[in-house]
Amino acid sequence: MSSVIAIVTGANKGIGRAIVRNLAVEYSKSIYPQTTPKLVIYLTSRDVSRGMATLAEVTRELEDKKVLEAEGGPAEIRFGELDITDSTSVNNFKKTVQNVCGEVDILINNAALGTEFQGEPFSYEVVEKTLKTNYFGLKNMTELFFPIIKNPGGRIINLSSGLGRLAALPSKSLRNQFSSQDLTQEQLDRLVNKFQNDVRAGVYAEEGWPTSGMNKAPWTIAYNVSKLAVVAYTKLLARRLDKEGIMINTHVVDPGWVRSDMGGENAPLSVDQGAETPVYLALTQDKAIEINGQFWNKKKPIAW
Ligand SMILES: NC(=O)c1ccc[n+]([C@@H]2O[C@H](COP(=O)([O-])OP(=O)(O)OC[C@H]3O[C@@H](n4cnc5c(N)ncnc54)[C@H](OP(=O)(O)O)[C@@H]3O)[C@@H](O)[C@H]2O)c1
Repeated sequence: MSSVIAIVTGANKGIGRAIVRNLAVEYSKSIYPQTTPKLVIYLTSRDVSRGMATLAEVTRELEDKKVLEAEGGPAEIRFGELDITDSTSVNNFKKTVQNVCGEVDILINNAALGTEFQGEPFSYEVVEKTLKTNYFGLKNMTELFFPIIKNPGGRIINLSSGLGRLAALPSKSLRNQFSSQDLTQEQLDRLVNKFQNDVRAGVYAEEGWPTSGMNKAPWTIAYNVSKLAVVAYTKLLARRLDKEGIMINTHVVDPGWVRSDMGGENAPLSVDQGAETPVYLALTQDKAIEINGQFWNKKKPIAW
């Protein structure tokens, strides 16, 4: 029986966990089951026990909805161990998926960290670990999985943030470089590495990088630049796909400010509301998604 295969990174809690649950619910309501009766969702986590516990919870939560295979529905949720910063872990997970499923229809790159939100002071170490996960980890995951994303028809959905807007960069020159239609992968990596090096050398303010983050607080600087780089990467990937005639859609999402360990308890949106746009982009038949590389919020493309 043919199946739609979806992978959600960092799905043991927060928005990722909600994406898994809502994919199962929305798939059963969509037109997909008419042509492809089954959806397999890989709920992935870098920690096996946290991931398995979440799988058990989500399975229990979905019992009443009758969307899981065990209750006669179309969805099956499987656990996958995956640390996006570790190439061995990504390759091992890829081998498992490839052996069992062949190809992947939907990759949702949700995993990220934001230790600055928990009050960790800005430093070179914070910049290094934030970029390692949020930008280099996401990119590495995408590039390693790319050969097994279904063409035509696959989708790659990346989670960025409203804090990853171009306006986060005070320097016009940097804004122009990040948003250039001619930006290459090497240039983007060089820009991201330059940010790290400028922070290490203590010259990031002079070089035009942000000196304050959310609400002008002296934090979330590393997070903002990492999420800005995710938007630039998605747009670059979209241009590459279009140029090479590869029929895979890629988009990038600002899920809004969401109550999670990262967003904190004062955020206005629930995790289910944060999951709405990624799930929509994963399942919709809307022609609007055919224009690749757009930045989305509340199910609509928005300006970067
Ligand atoms: N919450 C918000 O207000 C908000 C706003 C805008 C954008 N976002 C974005 O939405 C996404 C989800 O955020 P969230 O609020 O749900 O955050 P969260 O509650 O902190 O969850 C983050 C998830 O990413 C995982 N993760 C971190 N590093 C990883 C790695 N190296 N490999 C695999 N998984 C890893 C975490 O696993 P562990 O449990 O093992 O740490 C966790 O499952 C992120 O991309 C975030 O930047 C969130």
